[in-house]
Amino acid sequence: MIMIKKRAVITGVGAYVPDYILTNDELAKMVDTSDEWIMTRIGIKERRILKGEGLGTSDLGTKAVQQLLEKTNSSPDEIDLLICSTVTPDMQFPATANIISDKVGIKNAFSFDLNAGCSGFLFGLATASKYVESGQYKKVILVGADKMSSIVDYTDRGISPIFGDGAGAVLLELQENENGIQDMILHVDGAGRKHLHQKAGGSVKPASHESITAREHFIFQEGQAVFKSAVSNMADVSVEMMEKHGLTADDIQWLVPHQANMRIINATARRMNLPREKVMINIQRYGNTTDATLPLCLWEWEKQLKKGDKLILATFGAGFTWGSIYLKWAYDS
Ligand code: UT7
Repeated sequence: MIMIKKRAVITGVGAYVPDYILTNDELAKMVDTSDEWIMTRIGIKERRILKGEGLGTSDLGTKAVQQLLEKTNSSPDEIDLLICSTVTPDMQFPATANIISDKVGIKNAFSFDLNAGCSGFLFGLATASKYVESGQYKKVILVGADKMSSIVDYTDRGISPIFGDGAGAVLLELQENENGIQDMILHVDGAGRKHLHQKAGGSVKPASHESITAREHFIFQEGQAVFKSAVSNMADVSVEMMEKHGLTADDIQWLVPHQANMRIINATARRMNLPREKVMINIQRYGNTTDATLPLCLWEWEKQLKKGDKLILATFGAGFTWGSIYLKWAYDS
């Protein structure tokens, strides 16, 4: 008798990006930059920005989760757990996951936030899949959402072109077949925090007049140091996953990479020997939405995905955090 393992599978994807489009040309009026520099060095043409008083990450996440529930014909009552991966929570506490659950009307679940920088969705997928595979939680939602514009310094040309706002959500359930999450390789190196962090607003340096004057509530990034680590680690961990499972480029249908810089994506694909057609890339239109990059890719490519397709998801982000997940897609759209 062949025993087929029960695995956590993604059974639906929802997403949301705000309407406002911040183009490179508009950005060039705010800081000393150009469309040409941004396209050559990063590969971003435009990004979405959530405008409006009193709107935060939970509003992005709520829209993504509502769409997910509609698409999967699920009722909020059926959800057992909601995890929100974010680096821009609505407030320090309570968790944005709780706020999203409340706005969506999810009442029979528990929920919490997860912060793993730009690897938040990947680490969240690892976490959510284990709750599902335990058998105790049947329907688990993972939402990756960030209003990056709330921590971007729009007077800093090194940071302002990179980030955008958005949210994406997936539903995870247990299935008794070959599909679903196959494996995960996850890493952190806390020493990398010196290159990418937000200086003030936490317990070490609470908000003060000085911290605001020094513009310390924005993203601080040493771009080149982050770039070097991102290129080597994202590629290494993706190749390691391929080797571990004896996968060649021909076996893999899609690479779903974090969308931080086109040059990082290209370097990862090159190391994996994957042609451009097999790489999900939407950085041109959304920029780096941190926790939303992977689900926004899955959402946009959903119609092209087929049951059994082999996907490698790969990320690198603040922490440092990085990793890859190998999964087999579970449904035809
Ligand atoms: O998702 C989380 C992880 N984050 C990442 O993966 C980001 C990784 N890092 C990067 O993507 C790149 O390092 C950046 C896009 C942030 C910067 O690109 P770079 O090619 O590393 O540029 P650089 O910082 O070395 O700067 C080169 C030059 C500098 O001028 P000088 O000193 O050579 O005269 C910068 O001042 O480019 C200048 N520069 C700009 N020029 C025009 C920096 N930003 C801009 C800009 N427009 N927006």
